[in-house]
Amino acid sequence: MTAANRQWVLAARPSGPVTREHFEWREELAPSIADGEFLIRNLWLSCDPAQRAWMEVDTYIPKLPLGEVMLSGSAGEVVESKHPDFAPGELVSGVFGWQDYAVSDGAAGIFPVNKVPPGIDLPTALSLLGVTGITAHIGLLEIGQPQSSDTIVVSGAAGSVGSFVVQIAKLKGLRVVAIAGGPAKCDWLTSELGADAAIDYKDEDVEARIGELCPDGVGVFFDNVGGEILDAVLEHIAIGARIVLCGAISGYNDFERRPGIRNHYRLIIRRATMRGFLVFDHMDRVPEAIGDLATWAAEGKLRSQVDVVEGLENAPDALNRLFTGQNLGKQLVKIADASRG
Ligand SMILES: NC(=O)c1ccc[n+]([C@@H]2O[C@H](COP(=O)([O-])OP(=O)(O)OC[C@H]3O[C@@H](n4cnc5c(N)ncnc54)[C@H](OP(=O)(O)O)[C@@H]3O)[C@@H](O)[C@H]2O)c1
Repeated sequence: MTAANRQWVLAARPSGPVTREHFEWREELAPSIADGEFLIRNLWLSCDPAQRAWMEVDTYIPKLPLGEVMLSGSAGEVVESKHPDFAPGELVSGVFGWQDYAVSDGAAGIFPVNKVPPGIDLPTALSLLGVTGITAHIGLLEIGQPQSSDTIVVSGAAGSVGSFVVQIAKLKGLRVVAIAGGPAKCDWLTSELGADAAIDYKDEDVEARIGELCPDGVGVFFDNVGGEILDAVLEHIAIGARIVLCGAISGYNDFERRPGIRNHYRLIIRRATMRGFLVFDHMDRVPEAIGDLATWAAEGKLRSQVDVVEGLENAPDALNRLFTGQNLGKQLVKIADASRG
């Protein structure tokens, strides 16, 4: 393979918002493969808030070493193979990084290498049927244990995981209060996704609005944001509430000074449960989750909103959109079309 392999490598650790200066652009030849390996041409990148954490701190994986290709979920096509189970032309998803070409032996990294089933486009493989949709399904239904009588509050509701949680909660008959930044996102959540109410956290007093909108208390809180929003919702939880800690994006750009929780005593008063979870610990539930998500989408009950930035060269800016709230639904980067069309 003599094609050029364009890459973004981690050049500096951020201590605030991510900029292009934290990366270095490199171009080298596409790698060659050994027996048992295959070469992937990356076509789409997934943008995930966790990438910001991987750049700076140890999480469920050690922080990414400086000089290494930026880690990223992605999807692409197999272009060469010396592996018995992967053939040229097959579409796969995995963690292949911010680069045109990656070598894999098919073993699981942070997330397994999966073949994309025929008829599924790559944006869908990275959103509805990828980590995002699966996280929403397992986080809500397994960790949140919702009852149809519950009112659920969802933060980060117009984002990727959040927009699926809102819709699945409606499918299950819950009353949904969505929290997002700005009137356009709030309108979208109520008029397009079926949320019963939306709170613009950039313009409204979240704690007061939760109190008005949830007079019987919040039965389930699906939290993507943490910080002040978590505190505001804790003030209004119902007895026996389940708080699903999916993410805490409000603190990812400032790990040193992220705020603490003031209202945790409400967990005691309300005999509530607050549980962090990682989707990777629930791989046994993935087939069920994918089955449900695909069925609901086919029935027109679940829509997948994707937000696309074009070009590998724009990957740093695309990642930053998650932190400025520019994305609606799943943020993706399109690198190229598949050669098979
Ligand atoms: N536990 C797991 O296994 C797991 C798996 C996947 C993702 N996650 C977590 O789930 C959360 C959502 O991930 P995603 O991929 O779906 O991202 P996303 O919600 O599509 O994008 C992030 C959104 O967060 C909001 N946001 C950014 N900074 C904020 C702040 N300071 N305060 C309030 N809202 C802020 C923005 O929306 P607004 O315009 O509304 O501000 C932005 O659109 C993240 O915290 C992520 O780490 C967890």
